[in-house]
Amino acid sequence: MKSFTNADKRTHYCGTLSAANIGERVSVAGWCQRQRDLGSLIFIDLRDRTGIVQLAFDEGTDKEIFDTAFGIRAEYVITAQGVVRSRGESAINKNIPTGEIEIYVESMKVLTVAQTPPFAIVENSDVKPELRLKHRYLDLRRPDLQRNIIARSEIVKLTRNYFADNGFIDVETPCLIKPTPEGARDYLVPSRVHPGKFYALPQSPQLYKQLLMYSGFDRYIQIARCFRDEDLRADRQPEFTQIDLEMSFADEEDVIAVNEGYLKCLFDNFMHQPLEVPFPRMTWKEAMNRYGSDKPDTRFGMELCDISDVVKNCEFSVFAGAVADGGSVRGITVEGGAKMTRKEIDSLVEFVKTYGAKGLAWYKNTAVAPTSSFAKFMKEEEITAILEKMNVKEGDLALIVAAKNKVVYDSLGALRCEVAKKLGLIDKSKFNFLWVTEFPLLEYSEEDGRFYAMHHPFTMPMEEDLPLLDTDPGAVRARAYDCVLNGTELGGGSVRIHTTELQTRMFDALGIGAEEADEKFGFLLEAFKYGVPPHAGLAFGLDRVVTLLLGLEDIRDVIAFPKVQNASELLSKCPAAADPAALAELGIAVVAEEKEEA
Ligand code: AMO
Repeated sequence: MKSFTNADKRTHYCGTLSAANIGERVSVAGWCQRQRDLGSLIFIDLRDRTGIVQLAFDEGTDKEIFDTAFGIRAEYVITAQGVVRSRGESAINKNIPTGEIEIYVESMKVLTVAQTPPFAIVENSDVKPELRLKHRYLDLRRPDLQRNIIARSEIVKLTRNYFADNGFIDVETPCLIKPTPEGARDYLVPSRVHPGKFYALPQSPQLYKQLLMYSGFDRYIQIARCFRDEDLRADRQPEFTQIDLEMSFADEEDVIAVNEGYLKCLFDNFMHQPLEVPFPRMTWKEAMNRYGSDKPDTRFGMELCDISDVVKNCEFSVFAGAVADGGSVRGITVEGGAKMTRKEIDSLVEFVKTYGAKGLAWYKNTAVAPTSSFAKFMKEEEITAILEKMNVKEGDLALIVAAKNKVVYDSLGALRCEVAKKLGLIDKSKFNFLWVTEFPLLEYSEEDGRFYAMHHPFTMPMEEDLPLLDTDPGAVRARAYDCVLNGTELGGGSVRIHTTELQTRMFDALGIGAEEADEKFGFLLEAFKYGVPPHAGLAFGLDRVVTLLLGLEDIRDVIAFPKVQNASELLSKCPAAADPAALAELGIAVVAEEKEEA
């Protein structure tokens, strides 16, 4: 292999060359995308992060260089020097930006050779994700992933600049922190110096950013790494990045205004398209009732319709029983949905079952002989009343779930999106932002027989609901807000509690006694004694912001080295067993070991 010298250093990136460079002597470096040998002519497409340029060799080329070009294979790393020339009319490739020119090579070096890669380095490859992730460094050579990662970098730069320009101070908070009992599961890190004791990796910088407000920093921003040991989905990774901010002497209006300004800045400077602010707002209750979701996709209709009143006294026990049990009966109307086949409807029935619904009642309102899963159990006038209430016209399909409210919301909320996707009702060019407000402060867990904070235990209750904190905690609304885009929660935040009195009442409502509160959050309660400003904040998921702005669906496509569903990283193969000596030093004995998969 030849050494890399000054003469080999690039003067231009491949993708930046154009007809404007004709006649210039240039030096380029990168990977061979492909080599074409036409006998007396050889062409090499050379690729770097900016694109591809064609290198040309012919009978006039120095023989040694021509022979070298002959032996070059895909993914060899080379540098080449030569003169940019026009390709000539017939050879122009309009598909690539450098398609009018080529470099007629005068000198060239192979810096390293490459084996045939396990998959071709091309855009939109349909190679299995496992194989791609195992060789992520190759996967990341693909132009689409390169574009995503570079776009992410641009968004980060715009983010830092916007918040700096608006007086926010960038502060790093620790990654080794005290384990927290609330929220998702922590990733724990054992301490060597304190055997048997553990740090946790932060699920978010929440407490530290509040402490920074107590310290007077007034406006804080951090692009912060967060860690949560929770089940993965297309929009969740165990480690992810937040655009995390906090503001003092501020309330929800200030936080919302600053962040609408931020998103507008991304639309002006990254998306290059207008964004209308302020965004619409909707209370949590309205979002649940209309969309069955606290992160509604408002790009299409198909809103939920509550027919509990209409069916509460009907003879069909599934409907009447759900209402009698304190649940509800609701449905969505799929315009033109009567065209759906029985098989398609059956798959929707299976779909809602994954959300806990026992079934899905349906009515195909065809002109001749309508069919239905429940009509035979009901009187004619009861059916008419349902169709009227749900505004089911001829040719439409009614889909109905009867269950406890949570199940009704979850299943219909998801079904609405599933049907919209299947029928192509979603306008992908739309960016429907929305603030969802007035979330419940607390959520009751039947399983644990106690309340949990819906957002986190430092969220301020709405003032008019304060008396309910002791009498009906489940009914208290929080001064919390989520920023939703096209059915995804992009970010969330709240006004925080800033007095000992209220924070203690909140811990009480959560069933955290004085001793436990002192042990877990003593430092916070102590800090309250020394003058705390009113403050509020929010965090966006950076990975989600980038994914949605790029029109992608999986956050793995905007993360250089993501983890897979079972939280392992296929490239380096982690998690991995630890060295027994290291474990001994930490005072840790492993009692359960994962069996190696075949
Ligand atoms: P929250 O838990 O809502 O709020 O998180 C804020 C945002 O972070 C993103 N997010 C994730 N992204 C990828 N993978 C995950 N596992 C994941 N979990 C969350 C989402 C979410 O909206 N401390 C509060 C914020 C505050 O109150 O200021 C917090 O962490 O986009």
